[in-house]
Amino acid sequence: MSTYLETTHNVYKEAALTPDVGLCCTTNPIWELPGLKIPKIMQEMNYGCGSTVHARDLTNNPKMLYVGVGGGMELLQFAYFNRQKDGVIGVDVVDEMLEASRQNFIEAEAQNDWFKSEFVDLKKGDAMNLPVEDNSIDVAAQNCLFNIFKADDLKKAIAEMYRVLKPHGRLVMSDPTCEQPMNDTLRNDERLRALCLSGSLPIAEYVKALTDAGFGTIEIRARKPYRILDPKNYPTDELIYIESIEVAAIKDPMPEDGPCIFTGKAAIFFGSEDYFDDKKGHILLKNQPIAICDKTAGDLASLGRDDIFISESTYHYDGGGCC
Ligand SMILES: C[S@@+](CC[C@H](N)C(=O)[O-])C[C@H]1O[C@@H](n2cnc3c(N)ncnc32)[C@H](O)[C@@H]1O
Repeated sequence: MSTYLETTHNVYKEAALTPDVGLCCTTNPIWELPGLKIPKIMQEMNYGCGSTVHARDLTNNPKMLYVGVGGGMELLQFAYFNRQKDGVIGVDVVDEMLEASRQNFIEAEAQNDWFKSEFVDLKKGDAMNLPVEDNSIDVAAQNCLFNIFKADDLKKAIAEMYRVLKPHGRLVMSDPTCEQPMNDTLRNDERLRALCLSGSLPIAEYVKALTDAGFGTIEIRARKPYRILDPKNYPTDELIYIESIEVAAIKDPMPEDGPCIFTGKAAIFFGSEDYFDDKKGHILLKNQPIAICDKTAGDLASLGRDDIFISESTYHYDGGGCC
């Protein structure tokens, strides 16, 4: 095993034995739903950087997988939507983290009369070699784990998620990203990497890792400030700004002309006709914004029309639109 993976193992063993509220700097409020209470210990062990729980992914009792369980908060939130024995598989490589989350689910059972620990099937396993059958999962998730992995390991971990998902299944993720180059001292600092501070990629590289694995549709659902690495506290000469994103990668077939990547762009037709038809499956009704993927945005822009407005990426894609 690479030494950085051993360091990661030790960091999260420690974080399981001694919950560390500041370990990951979550920018999300802890949300609760009617009848859903998140035990305090799970909130203290929230080591993620966004949310992977989106209600619109979770209709029709999907079979779910969550890799890198942490304190179990997001598994509990997923179980809220499913409420079936073994409805959510939780995989983690650190025994102490599995045990801590098991205890936290007992506490969650005491606070939530609808919840039973048996809704979550905890398994020891590695993100790079998942103990899960091929094509068996509707919704897979990971939060703040894949950014730790170096390129070859990231490739394996994404390939594993792709393998276990059913066709059209979705991988929902949250991870830090960084558009600035990081120096080798930061990149090779195993502890900073394990703490989700020095492994992050630019968004385009992160997305490419997903489309290279075969995911035909990508949705960037949120992009938020995460952390600063400053020269006084970290081995860097310049201030480094880290963001976090929420992304879904959908196991749709790869379109012949390349993946559909939604970054929150929209097109608005404002010509004299009632609508504009690009004859490629996109009908733009007059003055009605339609969400478009970046590929369609490029195609529409290349028409050079003066009656179609294309917005910038908001990095807040919320469903619907083209493709
Ligand atoms: C940053 S924490 C995130 C925990 C949780 N997802 C959350 O949002 O609170 C990373 C988690 O991944 C687990 N982990 C680390 N390396 C792993 C690996 N190779 N395979 C599976 N899980 C791993 C850690 O034990 C820990 O639970």
